[in-house]
Amino acid sequence: MTDSIAIEDRSGHRVRVTVGGRVNLIGDHVDYMGGPVLPMAIDLGTTIEAEVGGKAVELISTAHPGAVRFPLPVTDGTRAPGWARYPVAVAAELHASAGLRGTVSTTLPTGAGLSSSAALEVAVAMSLGAVGSPDDLAHLCQRAEHRATGVPSGIMDQLSIIAGHDNHATLIDCATLDIRAVVVPPEAAVWVVHSGDSRQLGSTEYAQRREQAEQAAAIVGALPTADANATEAIADPVLRRRARHVRSESGRVLAAADALEAGDLATVGRLMSESHRSLRDDYEVSTPALDALVERLTAMDGVFGARLTGAGFGGCVVALASPEVHLDEGWRVRPSEGVRLEVDPD
Ligand code: GLA
Repeated sequence: MTDSIAIEDRSGHRVRVTVGGRVNLIGDHVDYMGGPVLPMAIDLGTTIEAEVGGKAVELISTAHPGAVRFPLPVTDGTRAPGWARYPVAVAAELHASAGLRGTVSTTLPTGAGLSSSAALEVAVAMSLGAVGSPDDLAHLCQRAEHRATGVPSGIMDQLSIIAGHDNHATLIDCATLDIRAVVVPPEAAVWVVHSGDSRQLGSTEYAQRREQAEQAAAIVGALPTADANATEAIADPVLRRRARHVRSESGRVLAAADALEAGDLATVGRLMSESHRSLRDDYEVSTPALDALVERLTAMDGVFGARLTGAGFGGCVVALASPEVHLDEGWRVRPSEGVRLEVDPD
């Protein structure tokens, strides 16, 4: 349904849209089961600068070779290679009929679990003039992600970016889409470090985990709020572990949001490290490289905790540290406004 999304006609105008990626502080593989998540939009992102108008989308990327060009409207049969599949999918979901011509640049590493694809989707939607509530825009971009990749991902990435604020993480209840902005205190430094395993969001593995969690929920009801005795009584050991992760992770997210707000970084860090163990042992989405990196980072003075972030299967670790800590690797990221849109910038 795109009923509540309007398209603002900016033909003849120039736009500059900068959209951040996101890092998830805690709460992975719970969004699609209606659990709570605590991500933050970050100051690494993707920018589109374009002239609006015409009957086609033409984009050059400073990071990837080859121009993307496709006529509007996009018909359902349109298939696009490489990164072109994201703009094509967004234009299709939006039923866009007015095009644009411009460039895409990014400071986000791709395939690292920092939601470069969601940032691109949101940037394309905003450039094409999409206007709507954060929930509706996020749903539109989530449908585009599904269309582009076939991966049945949740709502966290798109919504956390669209709802992102400077200096805040965003607690999202993925059952109701209620949002609470949670201050990230200045004593909290957030680092993202790549494990070296390029992420194969093996669509099959992600989809399989989701399916297993849904099977477990069919036995005991909503997993985020399930009773521990009930999840532990699930006969199938794999489904029992999946259920245990979703249930325990949901509890950790709520506790971490409260601890962050109270400035209790030691508790947040401990919960992050517990989250990693749960993703490793119960959800089985970690890799030896991610585990080794988490161990190395958590052993450092001034690091409160670390965990894989995003879907796992490779990609990045997020670490919470005191500001005195300086890592020679990765990126220090800051909680930022997720979307900046300028029409006719100087
Ligand atoms: C990917 C998906 C999200 C979420 C995470 C795991 O980033 O896009 O919806 O499921 O994995 O938490």
